[in-house]
Amino acid sequence: MISREFHEVLPSTQDRALELARGGAPEGTRVVARRQTGGRGRGGRTWASPEGGLYLSVVLESPATAPGVLPLAIGARLAGAFSQRYGAPVRLKWPNDLVVPNGARGARKLSGILVDVVGSPAGARAVAGIGVNVSPPGGSMPPEVAASAASLAEFARPPPPIDDVEAVTAEAAVASRRELAVPGGAEGALRACSQLLYGVGRRAVVDGEESATGRIDSIGPDGELRLLTDTGPVSVLTGTLRVEDGP
Ligand code: BTN
Repeated sequence: MISREFHEVLPSTQDRALELARGGAPEGTRVVARRQTGGRGRGGRTWASPEGGLYLSVVLESPATAPGVLPLAIGARLAGAFSQRYGAPVRLKWPNDLVVPNGARGARKLSGILVDVVGSPAGARAVAGIGVNVSPPGGSMPPEVAASAASLAEFARPPPPIDDVEAVTAEAAVASRRELAVPGGAEGALRACSQLLYGVGRRAVVDGEESATGRIDSIGPDGELRLLTDTGPVSVLTGTLRVEDGP
């Protein structure tokens, strides 16, 4: 049976949803918390999780696409939903962030997506963990995070109810996974990603196992970022992207 688990506080909705996924929980099962004490971000980073944010993990069937495609597809769908429903001018920052551009001064982060894949008796499961800054009370975020954060409450008046954001976000995660299962679905999702891609034409650096510097071009068929470097086009599959200030 599809279920929704709600917690006022949890170390991490992702870790709880992974437990459920390992037990074979069906697609659409979700875990939500008002606060997390051990929120996890990509690359072993922590995810500050004070009250006023959405902390949601959704169990999905694991798509047959390259690993980078699902988080991007969810990101593109969420960007569309947040801009349509809440008027937030959201872009997709490769590989997994939703940001609000801030002119030549970079962009502020609205949401982050983390996808983990596990085995279960019912087949492989992906767990999409999504954090969204909805309406954080002043002073609730660590100062270094607050300086570069955006929230939905800046755009929607009155601020959107957190349950509404949860429903929209969970629906986007499930719909994205289903889209990837239909013929041509992945191509369509990746086209939407390229259209919403933040920083196209700007100079950027990718750090990680693969490193590269160049101008952002587009997203490729496996979700890789294509950069135009001084020595020609380069594609990177994973890493952390820093877009340089200025035109
Ligand atoms: C990132 O940008 O690094 C991804 C952040 C993902 C955070 C979400 S909040 C809900 C879920 N629970 C976690 O511990 N992490 C994810």
